[in-house]
Amino acid sequence: MADQPIIKLHDGNMMPQLGLGVWQASIDEARQAVLKALQVGYRSIDTAAAYKNEEAIGQALQETEVPRGEIFVTTKLWNYDQQNVQQAMETSLQKLQLEQVDLYLMHWPCPEKDHYVDAWKKMIELQQQGLTKSIGVCNFHESHLKRVLDETGVTPVVNQIELHPMLQQRTLHAWNAMHQIQTESWSPLAQGGKGVFDQEVIKSLAKKYGKTPAQIVIRWHLDSGLVVIPKSVTPARIEENFKVFDFRLDKHEVSDITKLDSGNRLGPDPETFNG
Ligand SMILES: NC(=O)c1ccc[n+]([C@@H]2O[C@H](COP(=O)([O-])OP(=O)(O)OC[C@H]3O[C@@H](n4cnc5c(N)ncnc54)[C@H](OP(=O)(O)O)[C@@H]3O)[C@@H](O)[C@H]2O)c1
Repeated sequence: MADQPIIKLHDGNMMPQLGLGVWQASIDEARQAVLKALQVGYRSIDTAAAYKNEEAIGQALQETEVPRGEIFVTTKLWNYDQQNVQQAMETSLQKLQLEQVDLYLMHWPCPEKDHYVDAWKKMIELQQQGLTKSIGVCNFHESHLKRVLDETGVTPVVNQIELHPMLQQRTLHAWNAMHQIQTESWSPLAQGGKGVFDQEVIKSLAKKYGKTPAQIVIRWHLDSGLVVIPKSVTPARIEENFKVFDFRLDKHEVSDITKLDSGNRLGPDPETFNG
């Protein structure tokens, strides 16, 4: 694997701390983006059944010269498949042209439907069958996590949540850490830096380190112990977002960025999203 930080998950599997997200990338964009990312050194790709580009990831994995064993592939169970978990996993694997993914995540809890505990039990079976190495969740609040822990005894390795300087979810991040659940940041750049890249603290750190605002924000995630998956389909940005291993923010700089937290969500609230 390329020289980059790797996180050990509580089930013993290893996950690169920086990966490429491909939400809202078309089939062609996603294929090109993954090939570019692998060439630059990324070894982790985050897709989902709902992104409708798993085929593109499969194509890129076939085309690349990077061995499958070096690439960490994540996909996700979409909400309307919570009662159809086995079939959904098999469909994803077929599209990805894989026999196993590295991480399978439940995309949302959808608390009103109340299927997420049963879906989690099925995901445990998928892991036992070897169709996925690790299992985790996205968008779970403490109450949802407590239920899966209490009712199954199996702790997700990852909780992928909306997390960027404006929405830091520090209580949930701490709760995850206490239970050995790795927090992974989605929309880590606040979807193109909205309300973040133009903040004085980000601009002055960018100047100090000779980096771009996006690189400062990605470094803040890394230095906060988060797994981070910035999305880009632009070759220069894919490259830029990976050039973050030659500097570090000190703890005062991390905490200066922490002050930007306004609690503003860009996506839906998992408590009320049941789509
Ligand atoms: N589990 C969930 O519910 C969930 C929800 C949302 C997202 N996610 C995952 O998280 C990933 C990342 O989140 P996201 O896609 O919402 O947003 P993001 O990574 O915060 O931002 C992506 C946007 O930033 C732009 N961008 C990328 N690098 C940049 C740079 N260096 N400078 C300026 N702009 C830059 C991209 O443009 P270009 O592409 O045009 O370069 C794109 O418009 C997703 O792709 C997906 O894999 C998961």
